Amino acid sequence: MDCRGARRRHTLPRMILAVLLTAGASGQTQPAKPAQKQATPWWQHAIVYEIYPRSFQDTKGDGVGDIPGIIQRLGYLQQLGVNAIWLTPIYPSPLKDFGYDISNYEAIDPMYGTMADFDHLLAAARAHHIRVMMDMVLNHTSDQSAWFKESRSSRNNPKRAWYIWRDGKGPGIPPNNWESAFGGSAWTYDPTTKQWYYHAFLAAQPDLNWRNPEVQKAMFDACRFWLNKGVAGFRLDAVPNLFEDPKLRDEQVLPGKNAYGDPNLNPDRTEDLPEVHDVMRSLRKLVDSYQGDRVLIGETYLPNIKDQLAWYGGARHDELQLPMDMQVGMINKLDASLFREKIGQAETQLDGLMPLFVFDNHDNPRSWNRYGDGVHDQAIARIIATILLTTRSADLMYYGEEIGMTTTPPASLSQVRDPAAIRGWPAYKGRDGERTPMQWSSGRDAGFSTAATTWLPIPTSYKQVNVAVESAQPDSLLNWYKHLISMRSQIPALARGANIMVDRSDPNVLSYLRQVPGQTSAVLVAMNFTDQPHTVSYDLRDKGIKAATAHALLKDQGVSETVNLHHLTLPPFAVFIGEIQ
Ligand code: NOJ
Repeated sequence: MDCRGARRRHTLPRMILAVLLTAGASGQTQPAKPAQKQATPWWQHAIVYEIYPRSFQDTKGDGVGDIPGIIQRLGYLQQLGVNAIWLTPIYPSPLKDFGYDISNYEAIDPMYGTMADFDHLLAAARAHHIRVMMDMVLNHTSDQSAWFKESRSSRNNPKRAWYIWRDGKGPGIPPNNWESAFGGSAWTYDPTTKQWYYHAFLAAQPDLNWRNPEVQKAMFDACRFWLNKGVAGFRLDAVPNLFEDPKLRDEQVLPGKNAYGDPNLNPDRTEDLPEVHDVMRSLRKLVDSYQGDRVLIGETYLPNIKDQLAWYGGARHDELQLPMDMQVGMINKLDASLFREKIGQAETQLDGLMPLFVFDNHDNPRSWNRYGDGVHDQAIARIIATILLTTRSADLMYYGEEIGMTTTPPASLSQVRDPAAIRGWPAYKGRDGERTPMQWSSGRDAGFSTAATTWLPIPTSYKQVNVAVESAQPDSLLNWYKHLISMRSQIPALARGANIMVDRSDPNVLSYLRQVPGQTSAVLVAMNFTDQPHTVSYDLRDKGIKAATAHALLKDQGVSETVNLHHLTLPPFAVFIGEIQ
């Protein structure tokens, strides 16, 4: 890679030059400037960095990350340049699904710290110009929540109708064929009241009954609790699951079996029912009633761009500001045509709304493993970073993505912590592999902890793949990320320009322009998706561009500083990002 300040500073436009000249020998960029009052809300084109708190930084020495650990690393996050952090659940929880089973929505699990620690985090993050977003699990609670304990206590309990209770079809036979996302029936029999309750996930995660207005009130109160504290918004867990078919009709059985050995089902009676949009609209009204552009991110794995648009509120745009776009991030192969198609759709078919791109998160193998070929993994990781950070999008990053952390699945069932893997092993190795501790240094426990044993093992890669080592390497993946993030905050075309595909058919090279409408300058992004060199030629006259050359802003080794737009040669897996004046 050639993002090395020393070698390219003299060719850089002044704006970028300023960024790089203030970088230390380690290549670290300066802290982001304080947020300025802008006409557009902060989350447009924002980078939201997902923290899995158990794995970020342990300050107590118990092998589990905590809130003071996050506070300790805010300086790093500010230097990286992210705008917000999203914390996966830190509420009290029996941890059957590592926090996605919440027993109290208005408290902090002592394992992570105290409410005072959380308040301190909010203040410290603000001082670092970083917003804090919470994970809000609306679909289900823990079976240990006071609400469910009451609900299961008797058929007449006032909270009975807060959950979904039904008679079975006969002794030992659940009400229908619906399946849990973690394997087996989605119904569990409760002998106390001799009925079954529904759970889209674990039996320890009973689904709330969103047809009951009391449920909506209770959950919205929980949201208010955190909004009043000053959180910037929520990532809404599993929102497409909120409603189920009230008639409990069986789902259609499809060919084949899933990873748990259960029949494949068409989930149309348990996912994405139209009623969910009324709730989203009300929730949007709630967050909009607060100052400061609070934002709703949806955990929306949607099959197409049309369904995605519905989660923005269709033509009214009155639901989520940022439903997750998994169309791009889950292509799962380095296919230039598919990336062109999906990025193009997000640009042209979302009513101009902002897509939220994401490659890595705590539920899927890391992009390093999904896209790497085992030989050119570093270069491919730079391509993925470039797509994420140079397209017109808001983005989710996941801790460790910026240093190239890899998926490290458990070696044997005895090491597995993820409940999904305990059930799916060995066909499904679960999600522990992408949740291993953050690799900060080559020291003990990778600088994550001082414990003899950490909650998940530290991957052996930590000696080379860590923040300290990569900060000192000008051509590291970490510095590639930092340069990209700096550039997108400093260059108007990257910050707010349209995303224009400049080649409709090249199967090897993905190229696009970022251009502020009406301007004759632009930023060109070109990426060779193959292990062979390729030469491309652009005719950009219809984009109002007369220049014949582009000057590198950031590029891999082997690409010229100044390239001829009619003859740009890219070595294997090389990236060129250049300014056309
Ligand atoms: C989605 C979360 O991301 C995942 O980790 C969790 O297991 C399920 N929802 C259930 O809450």
